[in-house]
Amino acid sequence: MRELNLPKEGTPRKLLFEKMNEMKSGDADWRNGRMFSLIYNAGDTVLEVAKEAYAMYFAENGLSPFAFPSLKKMETEVIAMTAGLLGGDAKTVGSLTCGGSESILMAVKTARDYAREKKPGVTAPELLAPSTAHPAWDKACHYLGLKPVRVPVGEDFRADVDAMKGALNENTILIVASAPTYPHGVVDSISELGIIAQERGIWLHVDACLGGLILPFVSKLGYEVPAFDFSVPGVASMSADLHKYGFCPKGCSAVLYRDSERRKKQYFAHADFPGGVYGTSTLSGARPGGAIAAAWAVMNFLGESGYIKLADIAMKTTRKLIEEINAMPDMKVLGSPSASVFAFASDTVNVYALSDAMKEKNWLVEKQQLPASLHMTVSPFHSVVADAFIADLAAAVEEVRGIDAKKLSQEAVMYGVMATLPDRSTAKEFAINYLNQIYTLE
Ligand SMILES: Cc1ncc(COP(=O)(O)O)c(C=O)c1O
Repeated sequence: MRELNLPKEGTPRKLLFEKMNEMKSGDADWRNGRMFSLIYNAGDTVLEVAKEAYAMYFAENGLSPFAFPSLKKMETEVIAMTAGLLGGDAKTVGSLTCGGSESILMAVKTARDYAREKKPGVTAPELLAPSTAHPAWDKACHYLGLKPVRVPVGEDFRADVDAMKGALNENTILIVASAPTYPHGVVDSISELGIIAQERGIWLHVDACLGGLILPFVSKLGYEVPAFDFSVPGVASMSADLHKYGFCPKGCSAVLYRDSERRKKQYFAHADFPGGVYGTSTLSGARPGGAIAAAWAVMNFLGESGYIKLADIAMKTTRKLIEEINAMPDMKVLGSPSASVFAFASDTVNVYALSDAMKEKNWLVEKQQLPASLHMTVSPFHSVVADAFIADLAAAVEEVRGIDAKKLSQEAVMYGVMATLPDRSTAKEFAINYLNQIYTLE
């Protein structure tokens, strides 16, 4: 393995940035709208506001509400504004975390500790989730000692409520639903799950990491959105990522609770530390002031009318893409997506080959499995490239028609094989070895 030591002498600033620009030149170029994942692009003005606010609080530490009361004020205001969008009321409380996964980790910890108090008889707690809920839920179970129980979704790709009911048992302390799901962009049957949660006295969390900052505006625009937020009785907590459709810089998500009695279980304090009594609200100790300040700035800069305008553009673009893809021979969009995330598949066209063919045309469209499909996260900025995308997709569909799996790229073959493995643990082991291998010095 190669070694690398800290340079003996510092690098001149000009040279440093030349080097960084050179390294960066190999990265995905999201600015031109040719990728449909990882980035939520609302245009340059929002980006500049976010950058200015982030830079203003670049060094400040969200750990201390006493040293930086302005950050505490901004955090509580961001939480209140998010709760207001999601059917919350004066009792709704929450915290800002560094992202969806941390919000999910916190929700699982909080529900677990709440159940420890309310249901002391449960010694082997279980989390019940549809197969489409984000892997961060399994990760949280892995970290926190819960058993994840996954239930296949229905033909509409939404949670199968009867199957979920059948999978409940006395150890189930948490039910998860998504608004919308990452893979197919559909909103789970949250009202029905709310009834079950209330009847059985089980905590229901709505993972609106993806949709929390767009679904409220999609609904205001008149699109049909199934009930998904705190207005649904039985919903105990929610997560909503500011760094997704909130168009805030990475490192910001809200985890919300129906009341502060629940949120208390999220907090941690250690009284005997020689450095002083130590208490934190979330997993992180030090927290980036920039991420909190930028979220506050972007939300206040856009306001409701700004978010509605962006949601309108994203939705019109999404509906147009869905319509055009459905009109292509043999191609179909899966389920009934509620927001601006969707997946498309085909019974005859090899979609992994299609993704490779699109890559050749300089478009990045992510592959998915179970079932094989391609994933689209549509941002407002994609309105600019939608026509070009559809034209290239239509051409690529014809190019790959009848293609033999042997002619596919290594990646597509591997993906296809992994997707059909009967023993999923092999794929898991492969993924872990792969991570172990790529995070080494080149
Ligand atoms: C529904 C849902 N939940 C959770 C997450 C995890 O969020 P993060 O990547 O910010 O940790 C995602 C990410 O896409 C998501 O779509």
